[in-house]
Parts: sequence; C-alpha cells; structure tokens
Amino acid sequence: MLTIRIKKDLKQLESDLLCIFSFEGSKQPEKLDLLDAKLKKKVLDAVKTFGFKSKIKEILLLEGSSKFKRLLLIGLGKKNKLTNDKVRLVSHLMIKQANALKVASVVAPVPGMDKYGNEAIEGALLADYQFKGLYQKEDKDKRHTLKTFTLLQKSPIAQKSVDELLTVFDAVQLAKDLVNLPSNIVTPTYLEKTAKEIVNGQKNVSIEVLSETDAEKKKMGAFLAVARGSKEPAKMIVMTYTGNPKDKNIYGVVGKGITFDSGGISLKPSAGMSLMKTDMAGSAAALGAFKAVCSLGLEVNLLVVIAATENMPGGEAYRPGDIITASNGKTIEVVNTDAEGRLVLADALVYAQSLGANKIIDMATLTGACIVAFGNIHTGLMGNNIDWSSRYLESSRQTGEKTWELPMDEEYDELIKSDICDMVNASEARKAGTIMGGKFLEQFIEKKTSWIHLDIAGTSYMDSAMGYLDKHATGTPIRTIVNLLKSEITSRSKK
Ligand code: BES
Ligand code: MN
Ligand code: ZN
Repeated sequence: MLTIRIKKDLKQLESDLLCIFSFEGSKQPEKLDLLDAKLKKKVLDAVKTFGFKSKIKEILLLEGSSKFKRLLLIGLGKKNKLTNDKVRLVSHLMIKQANALKVASVVAPVPGMDKYGNEAIEGALLADYQFKGLYQKEDKDKRHTLKTFTLLQKSPIAQKSVDELLTVFDAVQLAKDLVNLPSNIVTPTYLEKTAKEIVNGQKNVSIEVLSETDAEKKKMGAFLAVARGSKEPAKMIVMTYTGNPKDKNIYGVVGKGITFDSGGISLKPSAGMSLMKTDMAGSAAALGAFKAVCSLGLEVNLLVVIAATENMPGGEAYRPGDIITASNGKTIEVVNTDAEGRLVLADALVYAQSLGANKIIDMATLTGACIVAFGNIHTGLMGNNIDWSSRYLESSRQTGEKTWELPMDEEYDELIKSDICDMVNASEARKAGTIMGGKFLEQFIEKKTSWIHLDIAGTSYMDSAMGYLDKHATGTPIRTIVNLLKSEITSRSKK
C-alpha cells in the first residue's frame, strides 16, 4: 500500500513529482507561493503559453527543478463547484498520472481547500490499487511505481485519521481482490479460509462455519436448494465481533456469496456469464467491513453472515417449479433458478436475526434490473425503517458511494404472490425487478428488525473506468458501512 505522509510545508522535501492545483477563473494556481521564484515563474508562464484553463481534470506536465523533478498542474474547475467527490477525483487523477509517469514519489498540497485532507487520501488510495492478475510472467512495466504520497496541509489531520483510512482501504483492497479473482479460485471454501484469516489475531471475535449438513439441521431449505446443483461444498459463514458488550444493539451485515452464478437450470446466456464470478461481491464487502471494523476496534457489536455457494445446473440441481421451505418455515415457489441470491439471503437473514442482529444491512448483486435503472452509478437501497435507511443514505453521501432509495409500498407485495404457496422467487412479468427482490427479502425480516437491502449489482463492479472508480471491482460499500458504524457511535454518545 502507498505510504502517506502529512507535512505542513515544502521545506526539506524532494520528490519525483510535485502537483499544483488550480481553480478555473482564479488569478493563479493555488499554493504557488510554496515554490521558489524560478519555479513559480515557470508555472505562470506555462499557464499563459499553453492556455491552461484549469477546467476540472485538465492537466499540464512541466519540467521541474532539482528538488522536484517534474511539475504537474491539475485543474479543479470552478471554486464554488468544488465538492468532496471532486477532491477524490483530482487526487485519483494525480496518482494515476504519477504511475503513468513511473515516478516513485509525489508531493502535493490538498487539492483546493485545506479541509479536504481525508478525501485527498481517499482518492489516492482508490487509485493506488492494482489487481495483479495471474500471469506466468508479470509485466513489470505495468506495475505501479508510486511508493510515497506526501500531502501538504496547513492544519494537518491527525496521524490517527491517516491510519484509519489505511485500515479501511486495506479492507477495500481485500474485497476488490476477492471479486476480481475467478470462481475456480474464490470458492465458498476460499471465502471460509479468508474469513478465518481475518478473524485470526483479532480480539473479541469468533467464527462459525456451517456446512451443508449443519445447514440441514437448521432447516435452511432455500440456501441448500441453491447449493444442490454444485459439487463445491456450500458454507454459511458467521463472524462475530463484540466491540461493545454494554450495547444491546447488534449490527448485522449479511452478504450474498454466490461464487459463480450460472443461473442454474434457468441457465444464463453465454455472453457475459463469466462476469458472474463477481456474484459474491456482497460477501466480499461483508468480509471487508468486518476486517475494518475489528481492526479499528470500533465500539460496536457486529455480526456478519455470508451465504456462500455456487449456483450450478448439476444433476442434483433444484428445478423451476420446485417448492422449497426456508428456515423460518415460509414456502417458496421457484419460478426461476437464476433468482438464487434472494434464496440464500433468506436463510442468512433469518439466521442473523436468530443470533440477535437487530440493525441489518444486506448486500447483494441481486438484480440485473438494478443496472438497468442506475447503471454503475447508484446502489439501490430498500428498507423497512426510515430512520435506519436515512442514516445509511447520509453516510453514503459523505463517502461518495452513491445510493438511491427505491419505494417499498404495499402495492408491490403483489409481485411476489404465488397461487400455490407463500411466495414466488421470480416472475415472467419482469416488473419492478429490483423492488421485487427487496419485497422478497422483506418476508424474512421480523417486525422489530431495522433492515436495509442494498442491491450492488451495478456498483460493485465497473466494466469500464468512470470518475475515480477504476475498471473491475470497487469494494463498495465497505467505506459507507464503516463510516455509518462510526457515526452510530458518535450519535449514541451524544444521547
Ligand atoms: N447475479 C444476478 C444479478 C446480476 C446480473 C448481477 C448482472 C450483476 C450483473 C442474479 O442472481 C440474477 O440472475 N438475477 C435475475 C433475477 C431474475 C431471474 C428474477 C436477473 O436479474 O435477471
Ligand atoms: Mn442469478
Ligand atoms: Zn446471482
């Protein structure tokens, strides 16, 4: 991981690259007075000569000095339009450029305004990640070269905040790797191994992994139905962290862990099927959130439940038309074996509540319909408690992990009605597909539980880069969950 240093000024600093930021329409770039007269003149001349407008993401590379070998000018757009997300964006751009230039060190003031130190580091750490791939011989020229990022900040953020960010991004990078790796590597057993590694060496934690036989005893008929078509042993992974024994609340984070979704007997078309290696992104985020929360030692109680299995069309696979019974006794008509995420989550949610979780977030790459609605921009949120949903939404506004709430009006209950048992898992009509997923899951939530469901089908994986999100896995929504739990602690201590 990138080394982050915070310094007050340029004194005694040297680097391969120095970045200078500039607002559109302002007289001169920001923090120009940090530079010596010669360098300052060089920047001002270049701005004129090359007609640098300081539009957002505009860049200009210049020869530097003996101390700072190169100079990179980055536009910030209009000053009154600067947001925390734009700071992440330009900071990400700066680190991308640094790696493209093959430099080892960057020095830069906080882009725009001194207060955006956190966002600058976030943008940098988002850009720092690189999926190593699985080559026989790694192309060393492609490897990121940047080692240290020195951030100049007049009132430096505490080292503790920097360390916290590094801890969270360590978890984000773990989740990204899990999602990017293929299904022949990331099996349910691999997720189990990862969970055990995370728990190892942490305090106040425990782990329990249910095998299919254990799940049978607990009557997890929905989870097991999905697991039947695959030879890979399914696992229901349960991790607990008791960071505040005095608190009655147990936050439950539940992840869909379909390590490959072929669709089952309702087989998916070949085109794009390989992407279904990412169908465990919810569980990757759950593992990451757990790792971050216990590494940070947050004073909360956290329960993570991961329903891990493949969805395959083997000889013992469940069939369209089958009626299965979930662990809360509810019966489900399987209209489509490709609507498997809601089935495994049903038993995971019931189990999480039986273990005491009362404030639940489930995360799942649940519906293609969510990508139709939001593209890769917003996570879809559905819930049963306005207060819990709004706190999540507020947290997501802070982290930039965009989230949008979908309606859960009673009228939508029609979508999941079956005429032969309690509910269907899918319908031919394909109406309101994402909400239907939410409505289905709601059937497994007790009245007293505050619950939100996050459909991350579009946001957990980018098929092309956008803004500060690079191609491939994003690690969403780990940052929002950690931020939410932190704000839960502060709001509790205010009461
Ligand atoms: N894992 C998929 C959803 C998905 C699709 C995620 C594309 C990411 C990219 C899910 O299990 C699925 O197949 N959903 C079906 C549900 C339908 C059968 C009701 C879908 O969206 O088509
Ligand atoms: Mn599916
Ligand atoms: Zn799926």
